[in-house]
Amino acid sequence: MSATITPYEDGPLIVRGDFELRTPDGETIDPARGTIALCRCGKSAIKPFCDGTHKTFGFKAGTKRD
Ligand code: FES
Repeated sequence: MSATITPYEDGPLIVRGDFELRTPDGETIDPARGTIALCRCGKSAIKPFCDGTHKTFGFKAGTKRD
């Protein structure tokens, strides 16, 4: 299983590749597609997925640790 996770500036984490998404209890979450966007702003109504809400309140986050 190999996946890449890319933090987008001021946006979600984009997950591409071969991955499995699970709840903290270990239940599988159907991603419904091969590439997904995971919310990192905490405001999405469809967590763990991004619904675009981060754009409405000006979420700020970089793309790498400095
Ligand atoms: S990162 Fe997009 S809604 Fe949270």
